Amino acid sequence: MANSVNRVVVVGTGFVGSSYAFALLNQGVTEELVLIDVNKEKSEGDAMDLNHGLPFAPAPTKIWFGDYRDCKDADIVVLTAGANQKPGETRLDLVDKNVKIFKSIVNEVMASGFNGIFLVATNPVDILTYATWKFSGLPKERVIGSGTILDTARFRYVLGEYFQVDTRNVHAYIIGEHGDTELPVWSHADIGGRPILEIVHENEDYSHDDLERLFVNVRDAAYHIIQRKGATYYGIAMGLVRLTKAILQNENSILTVSAYLNGQYGQNDIYIGVPAIVNRNGVREVIELKLNDEEKEKFAHSAKVLKEVMRRTFH
Ligand code: 2OP
Repeated sequence: MANSVNRVVVVGTGFVGSSYAFALLNQGVTEELVLIDVNKEKSEGDAMDLNHGLPFAPAPTKIWFGDYRDCKDADIVVLTAGANQKPGETRLDLVDKNVKIFKSIVNEVMASGFNGIFLVATNPVDILTYATWKFSGLPKERVIGSGTILDTARFRYVLGEYFQVDTRNVHAYIIGEHGDTELPVWSHADIGGRPILEIVHENEDYSHDDLERLFVNVRDAAYHIIQRKGATYYGIAMGLVRLTKAILQNENSILTVSAYLNGQYGQNDIYIGVPAIVNRNGVREVIELKLNDEEKEKFAHSAKVLKEVMRRTFH
């Protein structure tokens, strides 16, 4: 990486990409921010608009609309390009369209001489992260998907509301596919050091039925939002900024991302949502939680569904 300042390139300035750029600027995370889109006018307009916010930003950021050559010196290339779900569509329904788009995007990024970290957000994110890894030839730890970072955020939010505590004090993970087969890890969910299952057991104001209902709401949240406003973007944009910070500031933060498994959770050759330690080199380590039998079974099912889509897509 020849550049001495941090550079982030966003490919795809639709709702997610432009919300991410806006959130990144507002948090002063990077010195350089490059926007790329097939619609050049759109990314040029976004760059102009964002630049006009600089006097109000917490730190100077150089923002411009660019092209793939700008990826050469990038620390992170964030991929948010591609089709998104229409009401009623699942994330997996998008696979063929978006894998094709990714093939050409990743090839163009790599042709620039890029040697940084890919952050993938486009759906179906687990499959597209795998595709990015394959197409790029980069080490597995330097290709990261947003995975269940947003689902985990939604989960912590609803649990915070339910138990009336600050969502940041809720430690609970959603793992598996970022999609319909994801699962909550109740066996390791806690608030202030107390297991949530214990809190529910000891207090009759709370119930297991409520917990199940909360999870279903989290799992189906994207459908509910897409039904109302056509797309989801603010939550994922903030999740991507969180990941970007963890990387650029070498935080060793634990986030639920789509990471490559080679043996962990009994799985091989798959990208799927799991807690992982993220730092300047990408995924430092996948955290292997001791799941209970039910969770193990659900995780295996989620991986199986992804593998089946991968088999159809890549062979
Ligand atoms: C979301 O979960 C659609 O994957 C997107 O909001």
